[in-house]
Amino acid sequence: MSPSGGGRAAYSIVTNQPFAKQGSRPAGPVLGVETSCDETGVAVFDRARGLLAHTLYSQIRMHADYGGVVPELASRDHVRKLLPLVEETLKRAGLGVADLGGVAYTAGPGLVGALLVGATVARSLAWALGLPAIGVHHMEGHLLAPLLEADPPAPPFVALLVSGGHSMLIEVGAIGRYRLLGDTLDDAAGEAFDKTAKLMDLPYPGGPALAKLAEQGHPGAFRFSRPMTDRPGLDFSFSGLKTQVLLAWQASDRSGQTRADIARAFEDAIVETLAIKCRRALAATGARSLVVAGGVGANRRLRAALAEAGAKEGFRTYFPRPEFCTDNGAMIALAGALRLEAGQLESAAIKVQPRWDLASLPPVA
Ligand code: KG4
Ligand code: ZN
Repeated sequence: MSPSGGGRAAYSIVTNQPFAKQGSRPAGPVLGVETSCDETGVAVFDRARGLLAHTLYSQIRMHADYGGVVPELASRDHVRKLLPLVEETLKRAGLGVADLGGVAYTAGPGLVGALLVGATVARSLAWALGLPAIGVHHMEGHLLAPLLEADPPAPPFVALLVSGGHSMLIEVGAIGRYRLLGDTLDDAAGEAFDKTAKLMDLPYPGGPALAKLAEQGHPGAFRFSRPMTDRPGLDFSFSGLKTQVLLAWQASDRSGQTRADIARAFEDAIVETLAIKCRRALAATGARSLVVAGGVGANRRLRAALAEAGAKEGFRTYFPRPEFCTDNGAMIALAGALRLEAGQLESAAIKVQPRWDLASLPPVA
């Protein structure tokens, strides 16, 4: 649920000189910390041995009473949960803090207070242990999550990143070399799921609830448009869909079956729109591999539709397992480990960027 964009506003609460030498590589597993929104995620990833442990605490139940994420409550809950989760994760990995070789944390985009909790804990831990540390771009974490799986993709590929705050198509020339092909002009795909679910009185977060309800819907009972597929281009616009749903819902008998039928039609519209744009992006770049990540990447119908299109049209599809589509610490530990391995680290300043352009990142190699 994080804003995108090229704004450069950065929040810094300490300014310091680098404490670890530029270019020093992590001599051991990397601890990853994710606190950009409403999930506290911690993981330990080792370049040679892979993912050693990961834990996640979701604040969903706390925010559900308010129908959405309350930023200040999110920050406070990260404060409560983060250190116990770090201890638990190390225990599960069979490691002590002295075994760690580096620390990675989400530095943006996200909610500024929530980001600062993770950044402060991660930076302090790294400083106390004399370890290199790096702030990771949350969307790079999502994009690299399929590398946690047994059969990982290799660049070049096209990535569809669909979460609560973003709907982006990215050309990945190499790890760290990202070109934005398409973006959302208004609501992100996950946001569209959440808002649509809310207006049909489904509980927060609406994405998974709406997808579950859609399973019982009759395909074709309602039909909504496939926005912006009638013209060239790779941008998305999903806010009009929710208005179409609202009008259909208000004019209906509002029965349980109708709600399921509308949910199905909405899901079909999003899935088909995303699939059309993915095909276009693959054709435009000549890439033969498609990575799908971010919370909406957990959607079963989206995964099935893209896998089927790939099988028919000769491109390969890569998805993280559903628990690594939504926010998690494993993707941050992995992305941080790759960058630390490449000798990238920053000064000890605790700095986060609520808005951060993915294409501004330095290449890894
Ligand atoms: O990546 P994520 O966990 O957090 C952000 O970085 O935003 O994505 C959360 C979004 C929410 O909008 C949620 O409703 C949506 O992903 N989502 C789904 C599903 N699971 C999560 N949307 C559709 N179908 C799902 N199965
Ligand atoms: Zn996310």
